[in-house]
Amino acid sequence: MSGEQPERTTSRTGSGPPALLDLTIDNITPNTIRINSQSDNARLTYLMARLVTHLHDFARETRLSTAEWTAAINFLIGCGQISSDVRNEFILLSDVLGLSLLVDNINHPKPPGGTEGSVLGPFHTHDAPVLPNGSSMTSDPAGEPMLAVCTVKDTHGRAIPGVTVDIWETDSSGHYDVQHADRDAPSERCVMVSDEQGRFWFRGLKPVSYPIPHDGPVGKLLQLLNRHCWRPAHVHFMFGKDGWDRLITALYLRGDPYETSDAVFGVKKSLVIDLDKVDKETAKEYGVEEGIWLLKHDFVLTTQEETEKLRDQLATEALQKLGLNLKLVDHLPVPDLD
Ligand SMILES: [Fe+2]
Repeated sequence: MSGEQPERTTSRTGSGPPALLDLTIDNITPNTIRINSQSDNARLTYLMARLVTHLHDFARETRLSTAEWTAAINFLIGCGQISSDVRNEFILLSDVLGLSLLVDNINHPKPPGGTEGSVLGPFHTHDAPVLPNGSSMTSDPAGEPMLAVCTVKDTHGRAIPGVTVDIWETDSSGHYDVQHADRDAPSERCVMVSDEQGRFWFRGLKPVSYPIPHDGPVGKLLQLLNRHCWRPAHVHFMFGKDGWDRLITALYLRGDPYETSDAVFGVKKSLVIDLDKVDKETAKEYGVEEGIWLLKHDFVLTTQEETEKLRDQLATEALQKLGLNLKLVDHLPVPDLD
């Protein structure tokens, strides 16, 4: 270890935190919160106070054993060790604990008519090629070809041009490109931009169900919990344009064996779709073979302003219900000390 030593500080007196001595099961929590409350950042102070409260309560309520605490630390170390540029075990952990969906639902509430969000998952990358409408985003000859014809509109049914749409799915074996050790270029993923009519269309594969990576700590945890590690067949979409709430979502195929037991809780009824088959006319219009799978969907974005308003309103209601004396600063709750 190297580096400069931090400045020495002496124990404060007066209004500062008390001397931290003889801490007990009963007083460790308020004392930890007090020592963590010296920052000017009210939101950080509040987050740390609630985190410490729940962590300590967890230990008290479960009478957490030293062996269990050690196992948890080792579990987190394992998550870090197996993670890389193309694999993120912590997102997977957040997903299987239901936290990812919860955070998305809190942050991106949808007014009636708005397309609902779903989990981002650990397989989005930033190297997908920007492709013109009509392109194929797959290089897998084994999959069942699918034409996707989609639109992006606002809640009044008006087209939104110029929306950047990230699209990604697995290959026919149920693996994302990044899961192949010999990946030398992105595949089964692309970025498209909606045209003047809010349309985008591309060739991909009929999605297949797949197991989330289960050779690491998260997979072991699911096994211990007697949970399966499968996700129902889906295609991921992420929509972005200034002034519009970023939408991270996915479309799921109806009838998938895992439709109601997604390992990462991503499925919502409004996101379950039926595929069709490309008829003669559509085949001619889009330059594809007749009879391949057809995915048609209209996505509805909400404005950033609309979402912020709804999020603030829901946050205020939720905090009132919890009986907490909080106010919103920059749309985030902090204690109301005024
Ligand atoms: Fe996925």
